[in-house]
Amino acid sequence: MNSYAPFSEIEEYCLVEGKSGLFYPGTRIENISFPLTISAVRAAICSCLANDDRPVSIFQNEPVSELLDFWKHEYNIKRIDKLPDSPDLFDPLIKGDINLMATLQDLTNNCVTPHSDFPVTALLETDNGYIAGVNIEVSAWSLGLCAERTAISRAITAGYGDKLHRMHIYAPKGDFISPCGSCRQVLSDIMPSQQVILHHGNQTSSTHFVKDLLPYGFTSSSIKRKK
Ligand code: THU
Repeated sequence: MNSYAPFSEIEEYCLVEGKSGLFYPGTRIENISFPLTISAVRAAICSCLANDDRPVSIFQNEPVSELLDFWKHEYNIKRIDKLPDSPDLFDPLIKGDINLMATLQDLTNNCVTPHSDFPVTALLETDNGYIAGVNIEVSAWSLGLCAERTAISRAITAGYGDKLHRMHIYAPKGDFISPCGSCRQVLSDIMPSQQVILHHGNQTSSTHFVKDLLPYGFTSSSIKRKK
């Protein structure tokens, strides 16, 4: 598993077992704006939910992710100390050619939006194929994940962090969809020279460089990257 923890070098990872029997990897994805860091457990559970699955158990290394108790309580998840010899791992890569718009539309069925009823889907291009993300809402609003960050955390965890290209984003109920401020910050950290293609609810699309979405974004050479 591949984390992105250049500021702390904390090795935080977990595997969440879904009801389907698949195991969803999650790793720590840090951000130069530290509060936007995604914990391993949040990444894994959102990946599980985004696959129309339900978390049932979790294997977590030390240090344990912040708020693990929240997630255990939220889904009645049991902590396990031992994994099967060869766990069946979820592979986020969609291989082969896809019909982009049809896939973005299909993915809306996986969005978990009990609070907003506002589905958002994303497809992130990598060297090896597309990785999907959908928006996930949980009882604590601030702990869900936007579609863009679900796709990014899946991609980094699966080892494609340095093979990312464009991201397609679709929101059928938004006349003009555009990534939120937190997603712009994460996109700027992870894929600053790439483009996002926004597929608006009114059937139009627009293409933007990530760096144009967050002018004068937060950065500081005094926050040291350890690698
Ligand atoms: N949302 C996204 O998935 N991406 C964005 O860039 C904007 C907001 C989701 C989060 C939440 O589930 C819903 O839209 C309303 O905020």
